[in-house]
Amino acid sequence: MRILVTGGAGFIGSHLCERLLNEGHNVVCMDNLYTGREENLQTFLGNPRFKFIRHDVQEPILMEVDLIYHLACPASPVHYQANPIYTIKTAFLGTLNVLELAKRLGVPVLLASTSEVYGDPIVHPQVEDYWGNVNPVGVRSCYDEGKRAAETLAMDYRRYYGVDSRIVRIFNTYGPRIDPRDGRVVSAFIVQALQDQPLTIYGDGRQTRSFCYVDDVVEGIKRVAAAREYPGPVNLGNPVELTVADLAAAVLAMTGSRSYVVHQPLPKDDPVRRRPDISRAKVIFGWEPKVSLEEGLRRTIVFIRQILADRGPVREQ
Ligand SMILES: NC(=O)c1ccc[n+]([C@@H]2O[C@H](COP(=O)([O-])OP(=O)(O)OC[C@H]3O[C@@H](n4cnc5c(N)ncnc54)[C@H](O)[C@@H]3O)[C@@H](O)[C@H]2O)c1
Repeated sequence: MRILVTGGAGFIGSHLCERLLNEGHNVVCMDNLYTGREENLQTFLGNPRFKFIRHDVQEPILMEVDLIYHLACPASPVHYQANPIYTIKTAFLGTLNVLELAKRLGVPVLLASTSEVYGDPIVHPQVEDYWGNVNPVGVRSCYDEGKRAAETLAMDYRRYYGVDSRIVRIFNTYGPRIDPRDGRVVSAFIVQALQDQPLTIYGDGRQTRSFCYVDDVVEGIKRVAAAREYPGPVNLGNPVELTVADLAAAVLAMTGSRSYVVHQPLPKDDPVRRRPDISRAKVIFGWEPKVSLEEGLRRTIVFIRQILADRGPVREQ
């Protein structure tokens, strides 16, 4: 197949491109390199079945493909809050343009949505039928509400135009090619530990998160796109819940760092608990995460150690 991956130069997108190439597909990666990097494409840039197109998804898209994965959007709070208008425009207009393309071509399109659509949830773990607890006017709204509007568009294109749109809601993902400066907790802790800087915990550290290794997420995304027509939304994440304090301790132990933990006030609208209910993914797609936190952290530490050696220290966020 000829497959379009928007946001393919990003963290998750580059793994997806690589995986699709390894399976023998032709891959068109469309990205404006807002947060993505050409380095992420290095291992397969020379593959004749791979094509990189620098394009902003806020602008209309014209090409011939058989399937679309739509991932283009800044994803970490540091990046999506840097220019919130850009973020919400990318989430809405980008999805609109991608859906228009899917409608014109009559091909399936998978939207990479997020657990952020649940906001600061009051239902635990989060099931897909839960509508969320989102602040529409806060600093995270550009992303949270942008993705919620993107989901609405995907479902309305399905109902109104018959577009085969599908939605996955991705929870915290980590692994090699994660941006070491994006301020997300896994990368931030590893960078701080490797640089023997204090690990910053916001709040008391008892807030929980669940972390899914990128290969598992890519497998889930592919299954939802490839299986019989099913719109979702489908949660993709690791149901193993751990506290931020426990994660800090694991990173300190695995890096052999001499560092320690410091506490700072909790940022605005930071969710207290996040854990996916993945029953839907399990029952319908036979999907569940396979890579343990220990193994995933080990591979991510190897990657970030190499980045620090190649590019020099990352400054404190
Ligand atoms: N990483 C996670 O934990 C996570 C969790 C939930 C959802 N997601 C979703 O998965 C997708 C990929 O996330 P990621 O972690 O790989 O982030 P990322 O920032 O590494 O990748 C996003 C990619 O989109 C590109 N992009 C941004 N705006 C664009 C635009 N207007 N036009 C074209 N390209 C544009 C960026 O340059 C980048 O390459 C995003 O849609 C994100 O919302 C990620």
